[in-house]
Amino acid sequence: MAEFTLPKNSKVGKGKHWPAPAGATNIRSFKVYRYDPDSGENPRTDTYDVDMDSCGPMVLDALIKIKNEIDTTLTFRRSCREGVCGSCAMNIDGTNTLACTKFNEEVKGEIAIYPLPHQPVVKDLVPDQTHFFAQYRQIEPWIKVDTPPPARERLQSPEEREKLDGLYECILCSCCSTACPSYWWNADRYLGPAVLLQAYRWLADSRDEATGERLDQLEDPFRLYRCHTIMNCTRTCPKGLSPAAAISEIKRMMVARQV
Ligand code: SF4
Ligand code: SF4
Ligand code: FES
Repeated sequence: MAEFTLPKNSKVGKGKHWPAPAGATNIRSFKVYRYDPDSGENPRTDTYDVDMDSCGPMVLDALIKIKNEIDTTLTFRRSCREGVCGSCAMNIDGTNTLACTKFNEEVKGEIAIYPLPHQPVVKDLVPDQTHFFAQYRQIEPWIKVDTPPPARERLQSPEEREKLDGLYECILCSCCSTACPSYWWNADRYLGPAVLLQAYRWLADSRDEATGERLDQLEDPFRLYRCHTIMNCTRTCPKGLSPAAAISEIKRMMVARQV
């Protein structure tokens, strides 16, 4: 019988426990993934006991408090603190989401925080998104037109503009792609839900004139058709979008152009 074991350096050890300051009475524990590839050490989870009486309500508030007051070596990305930049995406309590829009109160007990799954880790909670953004570039995410520019803006009717609702709001946080099993196993060739939702955003834009070319680029057994409608993407999107629906629309356009 075949036996499989994980490589030694992939085993996550138990790290340090950082107790709350003396006198704190409203304490919550945050179990946080720590990994520094340069150290040569295995990843570990450190546990920080945080005094919630002096902490904001969001998971990101707790991470900032930990970094400012307890352990300055903790590394994570964040920028806007209001769910629009996508940089604080991580796995909290088993779900990919944004730390800045996730309330601590939504989680029962210890709050477990890991980097987004199935991306290489640069350090701690920071994933390497080089490949993800290279795939984004592949779909040429800008308006493509052959006709000469009009004297004023390229106009859309309100109905045409409405077709972009549910698409333009995507902040490219990659929570959906890193929750998609098809993307886990085929990220080298499958574009994944985030990039496909973005591809559909341009296919759905009445001003864009490259529909045929865009569909040609997606017509491939891997780039588009590795989506098996598992729906993890739609379940996890912190902006309430449905990449699965966008992917279905692309598949529908592929069929429609063949009849
Ligand atoms: S619906 Fe498609 S893209 Fe979304 S998680 Fe499932 S396989 Fe991935
Ligand atoms: S569709 Fe949602 S989960 Fe996916 S990248 Fe866009 S905002 Fe993030
Ligand atoms: S910090 Fe910008 S989305 Fe969370």
